[in-house]
Amino acid sequence: MSHEERRQAIIRYLEEHLSPARYRHSLEVGRLARELARRFGVQEEGAELAGLWHDAAKEVPMAEQQAWARKAGLDADIIRYAPQVLHGPLAAERWKELFGELPGDEAILEAVATHTTGAAGMGKVALTVFVADFLEEGHGTGASPEAQEAAQAKTLEEAGFFVAKAKLAHLAAHGRWIAPDLLFCYNYLWSRARGEE
Ligand SMILES: [Fe+2]
Ligand SMILES: [Fe+2]
Repeated sequence: MSHEERRQAIIRYLEEHLSPARYRHSLEVGRLARELARRFGVQEEGAELAGLWHDAAKEVPMAEQQAWARKAGLDADIIRYAPQVLHGPLAAERWKELFGELPGDEAILEAVATHTTGAAGMGKVALTVFVADFLEEGHGTGASPEAQEAAQAKTLEEAGFFVAKAKLAHLAAHGRWIAPDLLFCYNYLWSRARGEE
């Protein structure tokens, strides 16, 4: 299947499985991820497909997402305290069912699975989706200062750091439980944004 064929298949799937607002969000994240990839020298086609697909499982009923996560052996605290994270790993699973696991898809699957919390050591395709998703949501609420900060970053790692910082601050400000991957992601990007390995 060529890139364009997969792109079309994904768009058809999203149109069938998502609300109009979530569908538009997905198209925009795909477009933004590709734009960021071009700007920062990341594999553009992978970034676009991952951006399009990232929320493919977002509207699966929560009980179904949690039942799947328990069966897949995901962390019990995540299932209980941060179930809004589960649609990422579930979407990565659905991708494999639909398209199989082609060589080179690892970066896409990682991006889809980690798009909500990020992760320590996350790759560049994953970073483009992590940032694009945040920018698109920030745009909807009238370009928040956090989204502006991320949009003006000089490197992809710096943009990702601003996103992790904003997500962490938001959760803490509301007294919410914080998924460990977000903390690890924050620390990882903190050092990468300073050019450390
Ligand atoms: Fe999402
Ligand atoms: Fe999203």
